[in-house]
Amino acid sequence: MNIKILRGRILSFKTEPQGIDDKDSYLYIEDGAIAIEGEKIVALGSFNKVRSKYKQYKLIDHRPHLLMAGFIDPHIHYVQTQVVASYAPNLLKWLYNYTFVEEQKFINFTHAEQIAAKFFTELINNGTTTACTFCSVHPHSVEAFFKESEKHNMAMIGGKVLMNRNCPDKLRDNPQLSYDESKRLIKKWHNRGRQKYAITPRFAITSTPEQLEAAGALLAENPDCYLQTHLSENKDEIALTKQLYPVHKDYLSIYEFYGLLGEKSLFAHSIHLSESEKDLMAQSNSVAISCPTSNLFLGSGLFNMQQMKKAGIRIGVATDIGGGTSYSMLQTMGDFYKVQQMNNYHLNPLSSFYMMTLGNALILSMEEEIGTLEVGSYADIIVLNSRATSAMELRAKTINNLSEELFLLQTLGDDRSIVQTYIAGKAAKYADKS
Ligand code: GUN
Ligand code: ZN
Repeated sequence: MNIKILRGRILSFKTEPQGIDDKDSYLYIEDGAIAIEGEKIVALGSFNKVRSKYKQYKLIDHRPHLLMAGFIDPHIHYVQTQVVASYAPNLLKWLYNYTFVEEQKFINFTHAEQIAAKFFTELINNGTTTACTFCSVHPHSVEAFFKESEKHNMAMIGGKVLMNRNCPDKLRDNPQLSYDESKRLIKKWHNRGRQKYAITPRFAITSTPEQLEAAGALLAENPDCYLQTHLSENKDEIALTKQLYPVHKDYLSIYEFYGLLGEKSLFAHSIHLSESEKDLMAQSNSVAISCPTSNLFLGSGLFNMQQMKKAGIRIGVATDIGGGTSYSMLQTMGDFYKVQQMNNYHLNPLSSFYMMTLGNALILSMEEEIGTLEVGSYADIIVLNSRATSAMELRAKTINNLSEELFLLQTLGDDRSIVQTYIAGKAAKYADKS
């Protein structure tokens, strides 16, 4: 088998940084190398040490750039690529006026295929190598998504949206149909190659109790699958949810009642949780996914990371395209930082980069495969240029250490900072000419 060696500055996290000076939380090698055989990383270390292991290899010299594990986006809607930047006063109006209109177009399989292809291009250009994705209510939107994912050999998670009320007729399924279609899609796609399936009730407002029951049955029968939905994003959404489910104590208790909580359950937004909802989320090991660009754009609220962590909740950070405004995890973390500033918490850049890689891998229970550059991991690797624009170049002249460089990347960086994206060892952003 051929060996490929990538040379550059290596950064890979080992644990969650406990502060800006926590050098034990990561591995950094100034003149480092990653050896790749097939889809996987087979050696990591100083360039001289890695090179000495092999008689023959193909060298790709990425100096002076940083080599890191690919970014992971744990909440995004591929069917909303043409919803981004839609003007609306709040979540529910944005959903009814734009999102549901756009998602109806996925009744057409060709449209789904075209958008799926463009969506993957955006992810790759932005250095995102794994994402957990909502498809539309149409089963063939899932087919288009996984077909494209398989083509790129990406570790992707996706699922058919379940919704049977409070939406246009053309977007409605019913509990039995949604159960049957999801079951078939799970059988076909879950654990096929690098693909994984997420059971996807959109949120309590668009599902009847019978449909949430069907989602619970699917999860009970397929405990290895993910569960993804939305929770407590917007005050009007919470009020309407309470009206629709009057017997339940609060929003999260509805999902609990239908058996939807657990360590592979991902609750996007989770902004306005009561203390008992936080306790329930922590006890059930469920995951809260913050979507900062979306929350700012839709005026939904400020996710309080410190309070959520204090409650013992597992946290991920995601783009939430098309409520979110950027495919870039760098931009997303830039806004996450600003949201925490508004909460008087000053997230350090090491933690930001940990969250985009190993942190998001851990909340998806995928840390054995992705999120680090450890030997045995898939070679999902990105090459980052901290001087990608003239403004970055100028600012970079005054940088003194790694943390400052990372902070610059998350504040001014975007797709232009992604020099290359390797997926399972293959250069995917630009053709590998060397
Ligand atoms: N809540 C229910 N559906 C959606 C959606 O598509 N985007 C966001 N941001 N929130 C939702
Ligand atoms: Zn969402």
